[in-house]
Amino acid sequence: MEIVNTEKKTVLSLIQPTGTPTLGNYLGALKNWAKMSEEYDCIFGAADLHSLTVRTEPALLRKRTMEIYALLLALELDPEKNIIFVQSHVPAHSQLGWILNCYTQFGEAARMTQFKEKSLKNADNVNVGLFDYPILMAADILLYQSDFVPVGVDQKQHLELTRDIASRFNSAYGNVFKVPEPFIGKRGARVMSLQEPEKKMSKSDANTKSFILLTDTPDVINKKIKSAVTDSEARVYYSSEKPGVSNLMDIYGSCTGLSYEEIEAQFAGKGYGDFKAAVAEAVIEELRPLQDKFNKLVTEKAYLTETAAVGAEKAARIAYRTLGKVMKKVGLWK
Ligand code: TYM
Repeated sequence: MEIVNTEKKTVLSLIQPTGTPTLGNYLGALKNWAKMSEEYDCIFGAADLHSLTVRTEPALLRKRTMEIYALLLALELDPEKNIIFVQSHVPAHSQLGWILNCYTQFGEAARMTQFKEKSLKNADNVNVGLFDYPILMAADILLYQSDFVPVGVDQKQHLELTRDIASRFNSAYGNVFKVPEPFIGKRGARVMSLQEPEKKMSKSDANTKSFILLTDTPDVINKKIKSAVTDSEARVYYSSEKPGVSNLMDIYGSCTGLSYEEIEAQFAGKGYGDFKAAVAEAVIEELRPLQDKFNKLVTEKAYLTETAAVGAEKAARIAYRTLGKVMKKVGLWK
């Protein structure tokens, strides 16, 4: 008899409910989450504890968390097959986070480039949470014995820190944690600002023309892409010398599945006007089904609350198994 290994690998990733996600969040992370949901045991969630590092009006944070949750369901992630949850609903995240703090060196955390960037951006509120943020992220990942973590390039350094913490803990106490691998897509892993294409696309950018939000209407998407910064050469090809055009090619390729060569061939002899119109159309079509589903789901508050409670219960079952093991290993009276 043939033995088939039916054990599925575990995939985990979270997104912060700090506002409406951008096309960068979608192409760099969410789109891959949806693709992986059939083949793997997936755990996806809203990182609301991480969002406390930036002051937000309480009612707004709650609303955004619910919206992010609706968005995850709108990605066609099946809450029956996968675990879709909210981080703060499973207190084990904070508990493991504290323990891992004691297994992370100050200098390691201080090297994180996102901490340095965010400290500059939020100069009036450089709180300890901002510093501790990657260690809570490590707890999120390690609690579930995750094999793969689908993220954009900006999270790669945090994944490396997670791997270091896990390996250090394992060498002290035996194999407690699985050491996870980042999963970074070939396309869309670092979508750049439409106005300053040397900078990452970010929803916290003061210039609203620099990003596309997942809830932007077709008209707004058209306008933002039309005003995207390019160059004076009027030839569509991929090059580090042409960050604006290359970014639009990356976006177009992510939405259509076309390679850079195919895109270059499609627009040979054509100007940026035709190219931008095609990019806008591809983005609009890519987002349309997601927006339709989201608009419907976001009004179903009772369904969202109920589904999040089921997600938290399923997540907790796995998380507390790992936390229990860790507590015993480090000598907490249990
Ligand atoms: P967050 O909420 O900033 O972003 C969510 C995901 O979107 C990706 N991303 C991008 N990808 C491509 N181009 C961009 N311009 C772009 N901007 C954002 C991010 O890489 C991320 O994958 N700390 C995390 C949330 C988190 C987490 C976790 C992730 C908390 N716990 C555990 C993975 C595993 C964050 O702030 O992502």
